[in-house]
Amino acid sequence: MALPAEDLVGRADELGSLERLLGELDRGHPGAIELAGEPGIGKTRLLREVAARAEARGHIVLSGGASELEHDLPFSVFVDALEEYVAGLEPNRLAVLDDQVQAELAQVFPSLSALAGGGEVALQHERHRSHRAVRELLERLAAPTPLVLVLDDVHWADSASVELLGALLRRPPAAAVLIALAVRPRQTPERLSAPLERAHREGVLIRIELGALSPAEARAFLGEALDPAEAAALYEESRGNPFYLQQLARALDLTVGAASAAAELSSAIEVPSAVAAALTEDRVELVLARAGALAATGHFAESHEALLEAMAILPEQSIALRTTLTTACARVEHRLGQSSRSRSAPHSRRRAPGWSTASGNTSRPTRVS
Ligand SMILES: Nc1ncnc2c1ncn2[C@@H]1O[C@H](COP(=O)(O)OP(=O)(O)OP(=O)(O)O)[C@@H](O)[C@H]1O
Ligand SMILES: [Mg+2]
Repeated sequence: MALPAEDLVGRADELGSLERLLGELDRGHPGAIELAGEPGIGKTRLLREVAARAEARGHIVLSGGASELEHDLPFSVFVDALEEYVAGLEPNRLAVLDDQVQAELAQVFPSLSALAGGGEVALQHERHRSHRAVRELLERLAAPTPLVLVLDDVHWADSASVELLGALLRRPPAAAVLIALAVRPRQTPERLSAPLERAHREGVLIRIELGALSPAEARAFLGEALDPAEAAALYEESRGNPFYLQQLARALDLTVGAASAAAELSSAIEVPSAVAAALTEDRVELVLARAGALAATGHFAESHEALLEAMAILPEQSIALRTTLTTACARVEHRLGQSSRSRSAPHSRRRAPGWSTASGNTSRPTRVS
């Protein structure tokens, strides 16, 4: 089976909106766009497309993002996007900014610490001065050439970055600056969703909610060489989520009779290879591949649900595998417990019918949405 293509698939409407915004930028108008969607739906991929199209138009593109582990560094999303670029600027590009603005920027960007000199620095409660300084910096950078600021995974942003983003949405730079950001709505804290919602209501922020690929798009994504029945099964399992499509296709690509597939699957969810290799039920295999892919990427709640689903569709006589899956599920539950203690997002921990005993009944659970 061919592995999924790198080319962007579908998203025609979304690209239309993005092109319009880039066109506005060429006319000197600022803008902001939010790509919202579940993990793996294609936010980062579409941001990459925005960046490529903006670069093709000759815009400056500066990209950064938040990370799950580093949300304590103030302004980290903006530092990530801008730091390297501002560090390489000719000193006179910033010399025109007034002393106080330079001093504020020195506080935000480590590479500009030399600018700290003259001006007074804002206290914590005077963050608006840092906001104003960054707005002025963006205006300056975009003065000769439109600027696209790409901010990924903003749901993990530190609070200083969130406040700065809110300030830039409340009062956008008076220059050709486009802010393109991506968020997972279910992991977006209130302190971020409130300013995004407000900007959206006021028409300052365009929101694109990325949905599943259509069956035809999934087909194009997987490659036309794939057997239609197999493509349909993958589509059903993945529910049109490109990341899961990709992972399932990869797992199955290795599966065609190969032991390595079982090894990959088992290392992902820690099911012993011998047991995984003995799987003959296609559907169980697909669900397990999904569980493995989810666990491997830290989506423990969803992995847990997929394991429950696999349990429920196992043939009754598969006592050994049932027992093994019980152990795998307990491991994932353990990881789930660990990760839910370190995250704020609620996890559902549904149990499938017949789950509680290793030899329980096998009635099928309803699909978790
Ligand atoms: N429309 C698409 N065309 C082609 N490939 C895509 C498309 N959408 C997503 N992909 C691919 O699917 C995978 C997952 O997409 P991506 O990383 O963009 O998801 P995401 O929404 O950013 O997820 P997360 O919230 O976990 O960051 C990537 O390998 C990406 O290249
Ligand atoms: Mg992403």
